[in-house]
Amino acid sequence: MKLIIDTDPGVDDALAIAMAVAMPEIELLGLTTVFGNTFTYQSSRNARYLLNLFGGDCPVAEGATLPYGATTYDPADEVHGPEGLGAMATVPDIGRNHAEGAAAFLVRMAQENSGELVVCAIGPLTNIADALKLDPAFASNLKELVIMGGAFEVPGNITPLAEANIFHDAPAADAVFASDLRIVMVGLNATMQTLLTPENFVDMSKSAPKVGGFLREIHEFYLGFYRSVGVMDGCPMHDSTALLACIAPEQFTFQTSGLRVICTGDAIGQTVADASRPPVRIATGVAATWAVAQAMAQVATYD
Ligand code: BDR
Ligand code: CA
Repeated sequence: MKLIIDTDPGVDDALAIAMAVAMPEIELLGLTTVFGNTFTYQSSRNARYLLNLFGGDCPVAEGATLPYGATTYDPADEVHGPEGLGAMATVPDIGRNHAEGAAAFLVRMAQENSGELVVCAIGPLTNIADALKLDPAFASNLKELVIMGGAFEVPGNITPLAEANIFHDAPAADAVFASDLRIVMVGLNATMQTLLTPENFVDMSKSAPKVGGFLREIHEFYLGFYRSVGVMDGCPMHDSTALLACIAPEQFTFQTSGLRVICTGDAIGQTVADASRPPVRIATGVAATWAVAQAMAQVATYD
């Protein structure tokens, strides 16, 4: 499967990228970066660092730096760490970004791989909204957009009603749900069913000392956040569950509905049903034991 990951790495993004690089069924055509867990320059630098560490070889195209209509952005340091990769205080700046920006890269790759390219968006949806604006044919050229984001009739994780990726650019997400893209939404309904425990990370570091050890280290900080908010002793596989939906939708259950994103007021970022919008396949369940086993197995393929 030809895949581009649109990402804001980000601790759980790092696991998803590690899995994507390892999976033989995925041909990773690029990473596009966006603000979210970090500023965009940090997302791009982290993406290049992670590719180097995991032995991946694809362009990193830098994307949007601000949400639609915003003049500033404040990243979630308390969740993903000061540089986006847990407690790491500095991240080596390896290589260079691709000459094209994210939206132009997405548009061109969708044209060149028309009907074949899947985009897995695991950050705010600004680059996807920009690509739709740039090329009216983007929606029909793309095979599918698989989103990690949203909370459909379940509680949010950044506000009581909103999931973080949708919350960080609600107008962009709303434009994406209004478009003709074929969309699979893997939101909190599904991702909160998964759990990676501290023991899972110990096992990763044993099976793959270099990559698994790195993932264990960066997840220490992320696990600390989840512990501090008293949610669970472990962390959900948000971004890697969306990645798994790209290759194995049969492991998920879905409900279909048009969607709208609330863009003002206390409910900003909430994803609600809207029958006037094109249908979105919303993941409502996932084979959670299978998903955790996939993460463990893919990491174990590394040194
Ligand atoms: C999403 O928000 C970010 O913190 C994670 O990387 C994930 O993409 C979960 O709500
Ligand atoms: Ca993310």
